[in-house]
Amino acid sequence: MSRTTLHPLTIASTRALPDGIAIAFAIPAELASTFSFIPGQYLSLEDTIDEETVRRSYSICSYHKDEQLEVGIKRVEGGVFSTHALSLKPGDQVHVLPPDGRFTTPIDAKNQHHYLLIAAGSGITPCLSIAKSVLRDEPDSQITLLFGNRRIASMMFREDLTALKDLYTTRFNMINMLSAERQDSDLFNGRITGELLHTFSDTGLLGMADFHSAYLCGPLDMVNSVAEALSKLGMNNEQIHRELFTTGNLAATAREIVIDESVVSTGQSVTIYLDGTQSDITVDATRDTVLSAARRAGIDMPFSCAGGMCCTCRCKVLEGETAMDANFSLAQWEIDSGYTLACQARPTTDRVVLDFDAT
Ligand code: FES
Repeated sequence: MSRTTLHPLTIASTRALPDGIAIAFAIPAELASTFSFIPGQYLSLEDTIDEETVRRSYSICSYHKDEQLEVGIKRVEGGVFSTHALSLKPGDQVHVLPPDGRFTTPIDAKNQHHYLLIAAGSGITPCLSIAKSVLRDEPDSQITLLFGNRRIASMMFREDLTALKDLYTTRFNMINMLSAERQDSDLFNGRITGELLHTFSDTGLLGMADFHSAYLCGPLDMVNSVAEALSKLGMNNEQIHRELFTTGNLAATAREIVIDESVVSTGQSVTIYLDGTQSDITVDATRDTVLSAARRAGIDMPFSCAGGMCCTCRCKVLEGETAMDANFSLAQWEIDSGYTLACQARPTTDRVVLDFDAT
């Protein structure tokens, strides 16, 4: 089954979240394997809103063997899809891509790991799926969750987390940070930052050497600052997993692309290999990224955030060169190995060959 194939899924149920909604999709038996997922992955939803086709990705919050897949959607100020999602109801159909994403925790009953989950706001969504799945199916593993919110009332999935605490009293430890409501201990007032991690380490609240791996999900500044602190506290890069939900205004400061004018005037020839088929397009790099040119040409290409964050559009440059407007998800080794993000890539040579099937 192609990873670019959208499937019409019916909404089985919805539930209100603080300033958001959780939507559970019924998965028909014939699509069960297509929609099986690893905790931490997301679904891309596509719907027609005011005659425009809009696609957004949302993390799955379900236990990894649940028959229905539930995503958490936080309303974003001015957000077209998140505002539309609040009006969705059971029985409605939405087009959905199979699960994707690299912020994953493969579950193995033999594991004896202690996972550190650090989430801010709606960043709890994939962490909830990880926590539910690890606690249920890795009986010798533990979870410590550091969760940041403005107030208790704005906490997403509070009931789910309380239920996990009640069920797994010795294996699930949750630390709540609040930035706009005072708690008794000053230690737990404020935002999650790298500095906070150092304080928690110095006071012995979190012993970094205890953790097998860390999963960070939230805004870019939080994720970067915490990742830097974890690295200084002794974790290596492979142990630190990151998922971005927002990049703040950094996308607006993407680096300038230098393009040879003589090449631009004719457009660059781009060959795309995807699911074993070849497509040829011309991309005017002054106007288009590879993704936008491919969509204009009617080529179905894997993408979700279109903002350089999710890595769904990762592909390998086999010939020629591209430059990315922004990159919030490819690791340096991937860039060094020739990978790029189609949603951010603009050709800088007159011929480029891209392979979406490269692993
Ligand atoms: S579509 Fe998300 S990084 Fe390109």
